[in-house]
Amino acid sequence: MTLPDRYTTPAIVLHWLIGTLIVVNVVMIWVVDFLPEGWTRPTIDLHKSIGMTVLGLAAMRVLWRVTHAPPPPPPGQKTWEVTASHLAHFALYIVIVGLPLSGYMHDSAFKLASAHPLTLFGIIDIPRIGWIMDTAQPDKERLHGVFFAWHSAFALALYGLFVLHVGGALKHQWFDKQRELQRMGMGS
Ligand code: HEM
Repeated sequence: MTLPDRYTTPAIVLHWLIGTLIVVNVVMIWVVDFLPEGWTRPTIDLHKSIGMTVLGLAAMRVLWRVTHAPPPPPPGQKTWEVTASHLAHFALYIVIVGLPLSGYMHDSAFKLASAHPLTLFGIIDIPRIGWIMDTAQPDKERLHGVFFAWHSAFALALYGLFVLHVGGALKHQWFDKQRELQRMGMGS
């Protein structure tokens, strides 16, 4: 039996969809302060919609991972490289769930939440997290700050992991001449 040398199609689709949406969401939040006044609220609402989409897709990706083994590492990879990539992938799974989840928790502690519903692209209402919404002030305001600090910390972790992840993949592809990008559906 020959072992597979690439991820399955659902894993590949989820990988690129989640990656693209995360990049779009980060760029949007970086530019929001430079946009005209009236654009701020719609941009943050779009950030929340994309983030909630990522949360759903990340849950599917975790489900895929616990039910499937990834293809074995390309031949020639050193043991430390395989261990490092396993650790980085594990941390990435935590971040792609923790980042949107902490945003959702932060938003659920928003004091104007009842006047400003959380929706998926303005089409579907998303309930906020009940116990957070029901927390009395001033504790709720404190939670609002704590969850934002988590959201920011996950974002910082994401930036570091993103550099390691992309840098590692390109090193294997270009310097070690391994079929790394092909594993994720790029090229034949
Ligand atoms: C793909 C998932 C997400 C990414 C990559 C992401 C990324 C970020 C980043 C980098 C920031 C700036 C943090 C800072 O200034 O230190 C931020 C802010 C914020 N995020 Fe997210 N986030 C995601 C999901 C969510 C979700 C699901 C929600 C809520 C439902 C949310 C709500 C917010 C809010 C309200 C802010 C503050 C915006 C402002 O007032 O300027 N985020 N996010």
